[in-house]
Amino acid sequence: MRAMPTNWAMKVADKKTKSFLQRLQQNAKDTRDILTAAESPSPDEKVEGTIVYAIVHSNLPPTEKTPGRIYQEVATVSAAGFETTASAMRLILYHVYSNAEILQRLRQELTSISTQPSELILKELEELPYLTAVLKEGMRLSPAVASRAARITDKDLFYKGWRIPARSPVGMTTLLMHTNEKLYPEPMRFIPDRWMESSSRKASSYGFAPFSRGTRICLGMHLAWAEMCMLLATLVQNFNFTIKNATASDFEFERDDMGIGTKAGHNLMVHVAVN
Ligand code: HEM
Repeated sequence: MRAMPTNWAMKVADKKTKSFLQRLQQNAKDTRDILTAAESPSPDEKVEGTIVYAIVHSNLPPTEKTPGRIYQEVATVSAAGFETTASAMRLILYHVYSNAEILQRLRQELTSISTQPSELILKELEELPYLTAVLKEGMRLSPAVASRAARITDKDLFYKGWRIPARSPVGMTTLLMHTNEKLYPEPMRFIPDRWMESSSRKASSYGFAPFSRGTRICLGMHLAWAEMCMLLATLVQNFNFTIKNATASDFEFERDDMGIGTKAGHNLMVHVAVN
């Protein structure tokens, strides 16, 4: 794939593949620009806060600092880090602003924290049960990765009466687990309250893995969780969104786009008013 000339591939690619290739080209350009800035004797503050700068000025061996290697980091982190959080937030914001009771309960809970909206403290937000329940319910229905996570184990696996020999490819699709009605009654409905009961929280703890589990667990999960807590709290405290011409089914899984492909695509059209 990497040997394929991108400009040629763009000529034959369909619309979606083209936009994917364009993103990779943009990542390559961003990497070149940031690398030049990071290597300059007096880089500005913004560049010092980038992953590129951290890699260039780290103790990693020179083979890990080549432009091609750094580009891979930039492409991976930007692919893994943006649309994932955005797609979960899109679904969450739709449900919060389409359901007056959920919005009201969130606003009520947020009045209990000591800080002003302009200086929210993450630790305080993370301890709010209803905010956490809303985010978890969103992550259940939009766990970011739609594709089956493929794995090969180096040991035999035992499942019920079955032995799966070592080196057999196995896979798991998070969304199928997250919409299992034995674990989550009325699985397609957005019901944050299912996370408020400690017994049901416990029962579904083994059936909930939006960030995957094990050695390949999401590297950005704490950052993602922090971003989502701060964003939801800030928006709910400050804005009213009116959502028109959309229904819950627009935000349901429709196809595997690696991410969760929905009818709404990348859009959540809202009218915004200050609260
Ligand atoms: C709601 C937000 C997010 C969700 C649901 C999510 C989910 C996941 C999942 C399920 C995987 C494992 C994929 C697999 O098994 O093949 C993964 C991997 C990864 N994620 Fe996230 N992610 C999110 C946000 C982020 C953010 C914000 C970053 C970084 C800025 C990030 C960086 C990564 C990286 C680097 C990997 C690969 C880890 C590895 O293979 O060792 N993710 N993520």
